[in-house]
Amino acid sequence: MIQIRHERLADLDAREALLDAAFGDSRYRKSSERLREDRLPAEGLSFIAAEGRRVIGTARLWNIAVGNGRDALLLGPVAIAEDCRSKGLGGAMVRRAIQAARKLGHGAIVLVGDPEYYERFGFSAEKTGALWMPGPFERRRLLGRELVAGALDGARGMIAPTGRPASTPDLHELVAQDARANGPKVLGLRGAGRRRAA
Ligand SMILES: CC(C)(COP(=O)(O)OP(=O)(O)OC[C@H]1O[C@@H](n2cnc3c(N)ncnc32)[C@H](O)[C@@H]1OP(=O)(O)O)[C@@H](O)C(=O)NCCC(=O)NCCS
Repeated sequence: MIQIRHERLADLDAREALLDAAFGDSRYRKSSERLREDRLPAEGLSFIAAEGRRVIGTARLWNIAVGNGRDALLLGPVAIAEDCRSKGLGGAMVRRAIQAARKLGHGAIVLVGDPEYYERFGFSAEKTGALWMPGPFERRRLLGRELVAGALDGARGMIAPTGRPASTPDLHELVAQDARANGPKVLGLRGAGRRRAA
């Protein structure tokens, strides 16, 4: 049975593999990625489609500013495992993401994607004409959907990331982890520290 649910920490590796398969290396070059890197996704708005233990779909939303003094969300990436496509799952995930965002009180969602696909969910370029992505983008593919009427009125300028920063791993914790796993390797580091202190 296929289930759409909130993403869990344990899904991360499978999600990465799914995105690599769907987009290849180009996923890191997307302008949307500039709005996602070093940020956490919007609270409560990361979804996974799973069939048993297998991760077969992903959709996330991210906090952004669209220059009209109101917050919005960026949708993406959305990807479905190749052998599970064209069964309505991508659509179900986009609808779930929209529904959850509305429930949490968000006003609008923006994305970069094919209008031929996303128009069916209410996305259009009607109110995104004065917005810019932080990198190359096709204007016809910059789309928006209001969840609250008027939320994209006056949207203009460069879209900016506003999500919580992803925490940088603490160096001391990394060294301690390494020490637990590979004790002898870390002794050199400790020795170096002693030499410096001397
Ligand atoms: C786009 C994607 C998420 C759709 O998932 P899905 O589960 O196949 O979606 P649905 O079953 O709801 O819809 C499938 C229909 O949408 C159409 N469709 C899919 N991508 C499309 C696109 N880019 N443009 C127009 N139509 C598209 C399919 O042809 C299919 O049409 P059909 O029902 O007439 O066969 C999936 O194809 C995918 O993962 N693609 C690779 C990653 C990607 O491009 N993601 C979107 C950009 S963020």
